[in-house]
Formats: sequence, C-alpha cells, structure tokens
Amino acid sequence: MTLNPVDQPTFAITTPLYYVNGLPHIGSAYTTIAADVVARFYRLMGHPVLMITGTDEHGQKIQRTAEERGMSPQSHCDEVAAGFERLWELLNIDCDRFIRTTAPRHNVIVNEFFQRVWEQGDIYQGQQQGWYCVSCEEFKEERDLLSDQRCPIHTNKSVEWRDESNYFFKLSKYQEQLDQLYADRPDFIQPESRRNEVLSFVKRGLQDFSISRINLDWGFPVPTDSGHTLYVWFDALLGYITALQDPDEDPSLEQAVARWWPINIHLIGKDILRFHAVYWPAMLMSAGLPVPGRVYGHGFLTKDGQKMGKSQGNTLDPVELVKKYGADAVRYYFVREIEFGKDGDFNETRFINVLNADLANDLGNLLNRTLKMAARYCGDRVPEIDPQTISADNPLRAIGVSLTKTVAEAYTHLAFSQACTAILALVQASNKFVDDQAPWSLFKQGKQAETEAVLYAVLESVRQAAYLLSPIIPGISNQIYAQLGLTADFNDKAIGQGLNYAEQATWGYLPPGQPLGVASPVFQRLEPLEPVASS
Ligand code: MSP
Repeated sequence: MTLNPVDQPTFAITTPLYYVNGLPHIGSAYTTIAADVVARFYRLMGHPVLMITGTDEHGQKIQRTAEERGMSPQSHCDEVAAGFERLWELLNIDCDRFIRTTAPRHNVIVNEFFQRVWEQGDIYQGQQQGWYCVSCEEFKEERDLLSDQRCPIHTNKSVEWRDESNYFFKLSKYQEQLDQLYADRPDFIQPESRRNEVLSFVKRGLQDFSISRINLDWGFPVPTDSGHTLYVWFDALLGYITALQDPDEDPSLEQAVARWWPINIHLIGKDILRFHAVYWPAMLMSAGLPVPGRVYGHGFLTKDGQKMGKSQGNTLDPVELVKKYGADAVRYYFVREIEFGKDGDFNETRFINVLNADLANDLGNLLNRTLKMAARYCGDRVPEIDPQTISADNPLRAIGVSLTKTVAEAYTHLAFSQACTAILALVQASNKFVDDQAPWSLFKQGKQAETEAVLYAVLESVRQAAYLLSPIIPGISNQIYAQLGLTADFNDKAIGQGLNYAEQATWGYLPPGQPLGVASPVFQRLEPLEPVASS
C-alpha cells in the first residue's frame, strides 16, 4: 500500500440513485452510510476520493406518485430530493456529488451515450410484451411472479400487462463478453452469493431488453425518436457518469469519463443486482467504455424480524432515529450490527444495548477513567514513555501492532462489522489491562514508571481505536482526539493530507509529554426503552 497521497490512485464509490417516490427510509440510509464509511476510510489513507449519491427521478413510478399528490413531477422531485440531501447532512454523510437525473446536463450525457450505442448497431425497434412491475420499473418473468400476478419484491403490488412498441438494447450480443468478464474478474460481483445468483441468471441466456416506453411523458425523449421516452433504468445508470463531472463544467461524455472512471465500487442492494452486474457492463461495452471495478450487493434490513415496508407499516424513519440518538450512534449500529452483504435486523432494544456496551461503556468509560488517572498521576500529560521501550509482548501493543492491517483489510473488503469487532477487541483488552494492572495501586506503591507505562499503553490504544473508527463515528473520534490533546478534524475531506496515515494507524503514535485535554463523556449512556404495556 503506497502511503504518499500524491501517488495514491483515485477512488470513486457510488450508492444507488434513489427513487423519489417517497422520503428516504432506513434502507436508503443504510447503503449511503456504508458508502460514506468506505469513502472516509480511503480519504484517511490519502486517496483522492469521489463519493457519489443522488436521486433517480424519471419514470412511471415517479410520474404516478406526483399525480397522486396533485403535483407536477418536477416540483414533487424537487421536494423529495431536498429531503434526501437533508438526511445525508443529518447523518454526517459527506458526499462529493449529489446527482439528480432530471438535471439538464444529464440529458446531454444520456444523448451522447445513446448515440454511441446506436452507432454500434445495438439498438433496434421491436414489440415488447410482458408483465411490468411499476415499483421495480422492470419487466418480470412469468415464472417469478407470486399468486395473483404479484411482484416477488413488492409483494402487495400486482404487475401490469404491457404490449407495446419499444426500442431494445442488444444485450444478447454481449453474452460472451460478459461471461468472459465474470471469469476474468471473479471479484467483479460481491459477495460470492450474489455472484452466483448473477452467474446462474446469465447462464440461462441473455435476452435483449427494452430501453424505451410509449405513453410515458416523464423522462428524456429517445434522441432518434421523440415519440418514445427513454426507459428510466437506461437513464438512471448513466447518472453515475454525469456525476463525475463538476456541475459547472460543460457536460460531455468524453470529459466526464476523463477522471474517476471506471468507478471502483458500485454499492447497491441485492434487488438491483441484475441492472448493475449485467445490463450496465454490457451498455458500457457497447459504448466502448471500461467496466467498473466491483459491484457489491448488500442485504435487506428487517425490523424486529419482519420485512420492512410501507405496506407493513413498520418502516423506520431515519430522521427520527438520528434526532433521537445522533448520527454516530445510527452509523455505528448499522455497520457494526449487520454483517455487510447479509440481511440484518433493526431492534431498538438491541440498538440501545449495543451502543451502551461499545460506545458508552467500553470506549467512553475507558477514556474517561484513564484521562482522570493521567491527570492525577502524570500531571495531566501523556506519560513520558518512549513507546518503543514498551515490550513487544505488552498485550495492548501486541494487539495494536497487528490491528492496522486487519482493519485496513476489513474496510477495503467492506467487512465493517469485522473492523468494529477488531477495534473493540483492543478497547476491551485495554479495560482488562487497567483492571489487571491497577495503576492506582502501582502509583500508591510509588511505582511511577510502571504507572506511566500502563497509562500510556491505554491512552494510545484509545487513540488508535478512535482513529480507526473515525470513518464510522467521526464525531466521537474528534472528541477523543481533542481530549487526548491532539488536533484533528475527521470531518475534513483533506484529513489524509493533514494526518499521515502510516503514523496514525499504527500503535505508538501518541506523543509522550503532550498536555491532555479536558475529560468528558464522549457518548452519553442511553436509557433503556420503557417496557410496552401488554393489553
Ligand atoms: N432508482 C433505483 C436505483 C437506480 S441506480 C442507477 C432504485 N431505487 S430505490 O430507491 O428503490 O432503491 C435504492 C436502494 O435501496 C436499492 O439498492 C435497494 O436495495 C435499497 N433498499 C430498499 N429497501 C431496502 C431495505 N429494506 N434494506 C436495505 N436496502 C434496501 O432501485
């Protein structure tokens, strides 16, 4: 791993562009938190990073929602898109680009891209017949439908029969190239279970898919035939390209892909895997563009064991959750508790327990009590210990030294929960170390050097933990650094240029003799929920 920021390769990551049929729910927040964590980790390492999120605003679903609300589609989209931006701010999500697919500059990119594919001879007119799910904005295969022609994903919605003239994209032409892509780059689709799903889908033989609709106004017209409107997915995927350009630049496909392309990771939910792992690379191949680095399909969130959905009336409002518990708490719970890639559950009691155990007790109390001892026994300074003189088999040093690599690997493989477990293991070992070594008693016995050695090891472990957790809980990490007397702003996008990753990620950085800051709890213990009265 190169550690000089100047030499670092660029890193671009996207979330899906969210439909604006309703305000964001916790599912959209989940993906965006994860993307923000990865982006922050790469920034910490000094990479130039571009994190993209945004909204997908065209298509029948949005048009119908706007109609139901008695609003014009554009004003409806403006209102909902603003809600997404507000939520990202509340969650301390620092994206670099927020792309809206109704932006006029996006139309320019879409037209140019369409033209390239058209010139390849990959678009033709045909008749589309089939079952369409407006909520998925996707044709469904009859064999996949539930009883009463219901969509397997939107189980309370019936699909609609369509028989109309559409333009088609020649996906079938790319069968071999796609097979080759999956064979050459086994990590293109992750995790493995999702890769297998895609491989078995592709093995059944690819069929061309329609990329236009008639009887739909809300979308970009097909550049070669204004009687047709472009299919929302064709337009939406290209949002990833439009987003690469600075909004003030003149839009141009060539310019847009000049930097940051190909995207390193598309982070998505498992339901939209086919679009990203099959349709999208084929469209890019047709347009003569390299395909992205990785497509990662994470799992779904459930609430109290039940599938979360508006119709079930159990959606979780992320705004309320952040207002109640704060951004760091929400960010931490979702990445710590749910193994990324698998489905995971939200349960408020569990939420409170996890946060109290990890952030209030293990991390917060450790810092607090160690700072107080350092104030009393070491003149409110970091003990004057040369970390190199601490024995290699000191349990904290031993964990801290190997932690850097473990955590970097976990973050780069999006194994957030593993990153947290590894970091918390150091924190837990530090609490045990304090209890075992009893620095108060060492001090009483006049063993100043031993007292200082214990406190240095613990304070340094808290620092390393705060640094490595900073992509997840930047607010708490900032507080910990300040209380250790260090200057850092983990919300600064240039953090990787300001702090040297190699130095900071490694155990033993804390400067001996440095004055400490004021101790105060970094995470307030949460009150347990009132038991629900049984009727
Ligand atoms: N607009 C398309 C994406 C276009 S990308 C070019 C779309 N939007 S969506 O708003 O319906 O879904 C966005 C993402 O949210 C999807 O990845 C979906 O998997 C995710 N989630 C929706 N509900 C979810 C949960 N309950 N849990 C976790 N993620 C879920 O699809």
